[in-house]
Amino acid sequence: MSEKRVLLIVGGGIAAYKALELTRLLRKAGIGVRPILTKAGAEFVTPLSLSALAEDRVYSELFSLTDEAEMGHIELSRSADLVVVAPATADLMAKAANGLAGDLAATTLLATDKPVLMAPAMNVRMWEHAATRRNLATLKADGVAFVGPDEGAMACGEFGFGRMAEPAAIFEAILGMLQGGPLKGRHVLVTAGPTAEALDPVRVLTNRSSGKQGFEIAGALARLGARVTLVAGPVGLPTPAGVTRVDIESAREMLAACQQALPADAAVCVAAVADWRPDEAFGIKLKKGKDGPPVLTLVENPDILATLAAHTPTRPKIVVGFAAETNDVEMHAKAKLTRKGCDWIVANDVTQPGVMGGADNTVMIVSKAGVERWDRAGKDEVAMKIAQRIAQDLA
Ligand code: C5P
Repeated sequence: MSEKRVLLIVGGGIAAYKALELTRLLRKAGIGVRPILTKAGAEFVTPLSLSALAEDRVYSELFSLTDEAEMGHIELSRSADLVVVAPATADLMAKAANGLAGDLAATTLLATDKPVLMAPAMNVRMWEHAATRRNLATLKADGVAFVGPDEGAMACGEFGFGRMAEPAAIFEAILGMLQGGPLKGRHVLVTAGPTAEALDPVRVLTNRSSGKQGFEIAGALARLGARVTLVAGPVGLPTPAGVTRVDIESAREMLAACQQALPADAAVCVAAVADWRPDEAFGIKLKKGKDGPPVLTLVENPDILATLAAHTPTRPKIVVGFAAETNDVEMHAKAKLTRKGCDWIVANDVTQPGVMGGADNTVMIVSKAGVERWDRAGKDEVAMKIAQRIAQDLA
């Protein structure tokens, strides 16, 4: 990787300190780092720290005689294999989305012909603001890749989406973009989130699945270079970078979307599919009346995992199922492996605090080869380990 170079634009946010760690990780991997530090970025980290870790000089000025004599801003924008913006502030995203070129960072983003990866970092309200949503959509349509932001506590004391992805995750995303990744040329199908089964036009039967683990897996697979189709039930999560998302509501829609996405090299069924649906979805809203509450008759939904595992002639080479259990996890997981005809079951004990809807997971991998227990880890880490294992098994 020694010949690879990253142009790292460091914007002005408290997360700028993480850009130093990112620089260290990149240099350790033999990747060249040429830093651009914005004026606001220099309020958070010093040019000296960045320069020392990057082992290169720091560029800051658009109209600097010395900078321009050494390397013009156009040349600078082409001097790397990848442009990374970390932290990508709301301001930098807005400038890039609108093609502004008032400073060196913005000009570089406008002048570059190289792929761009952004790691957004901002207050949750700024991230959720309609202007940022528009800018994000524009940048994605322009081909900019994104990693994060994560959900969590923020330096400003609020909680939500807006924390910059951890340096290790940005590093993985960079490696994926520079190397093409071990899953380059592979197509992986992922299901995630709950399904919602209509009772009438306003009421649904659904469950509490957050979709987090499935979205993390889709993102991790994409970072390893796979083409990923994510069939998602109703969740409010942002689409991971480089992932094609198909939104559905019911189990039958999920199955149809999965079948349409085939062929795939691997399928990872993380969705919490409703086992049953009302036998009839009423066309008009059910009303309270003198006859008392309606009696629901439920019918069984198709099993998407089992259907994909038995799909001929286009069965994905690796079919992975999930099992959420409250007791005898290993025994139930082994039984599920056989019943569903899949290749591995990722099983977790949902009685453990924080697994349902939380950020962490403790899983065991059950396959014909045996049982592997993984230590408790963040869902992003579990996702990357699963993606790496899929890459290994497909190699
Ligand atoms: O049968 P159970 O819901 O316990 O199995 C869980 C696994 O099966 C998960 O991987 C889930 O995504 C998948 N599943 C499915 N379609 C269903 C039910 C479960 O794909 N109708």
